[in-house]
Amino acid sequence: MAQLATINGNTMGNSGVSSLKNQFYLPLKRWLLLNFRLDDTYFKKQPDRIWLNTQLYPRLAKLKQGRILFVGCAYYTWESLRLFDKGVDLVTVDIDENNVIWGGKNHIVASILDIDTYVEPGSFDIVLLNGVFGHGVDTKEMQEQTYKALHNILKPDGMLLVGWNDDLIPDPTELQISKDLFYKSEYEGLPQRTTFQNSTHIMDFLRAKKA
Ligand SMILES: C[S@@+](CC[C@H](N)C(=O)[O-])C[C@H]1O[C@@H](n2cnc3c(N)ncnc32)[C@H](O)[C@@H]1O
Repeated sequence: MAQLATINGNTMGNSGVSSLKNQFYLPLKRWLLLNFRLDDTYFKKQPDRIWLNTQLYPRLAKLKQGRILFVGCAYYTWESLRLFDKGVDLVTVDIDENNVIWGGKNHIVASILDIDTYVEPGSFDIVLLNGVFGHGVDTKEMQEQTYKALHNILKPDGMLLVGWNDDLIPDPTELQISKDLFYKSEYEGLPQRTTFQNSTHIMDFLRAKKA
């Protein structure tokens, strides 16, 4: 298993200096940025974000336990991380080390293509992969590797949310590897697929087939 590149929590490898940074510097910088520099109003008005905030996240907020991987961290996703119950083992990951500041307590700097070399196999109940296919993970080959890595780390029947844009990439749920490793499913009363008026965003729920 590869060494963690960076983890922004107290899980491993923190020298005194880096834990001071995590405890004081990053929260202060985040607060300053969110209050005086960055504005997430645009994102909050997008139909896909409204769906996340009013449909999916309230359902996830009810979970009292389990392990969830949140992929791709930005200033406009920071608030969402705070919805999760403390009993949930929330892990965040982003390839860009500048986004450590927007990750959770247990944050990994890595590519999602290799996530199965950083975390235990079959250990996650849910993976939230919104806005990553088509926003960095763009080719068929990259998406195939991502599906394999996520199937490795998900429990059987574990849920994978794939949020993508149909003007950026072809339907990733139609890739053969997606059909081989996952099946389409509803999630807690939400349909397998949700589309939005005047938006190219699509939300799909998949579940991991048994290996
Ligand atoms: C458009 S943002 C989406 C953020 C968020 N997931 C959301 O729900 O809106 C794309 C994020 O994915 C990250 N990303 C791109 N390629 C990645 C990769 N190979 N592995 C992990 N993160 C990646 C980017 O650094 C960026 O933070």
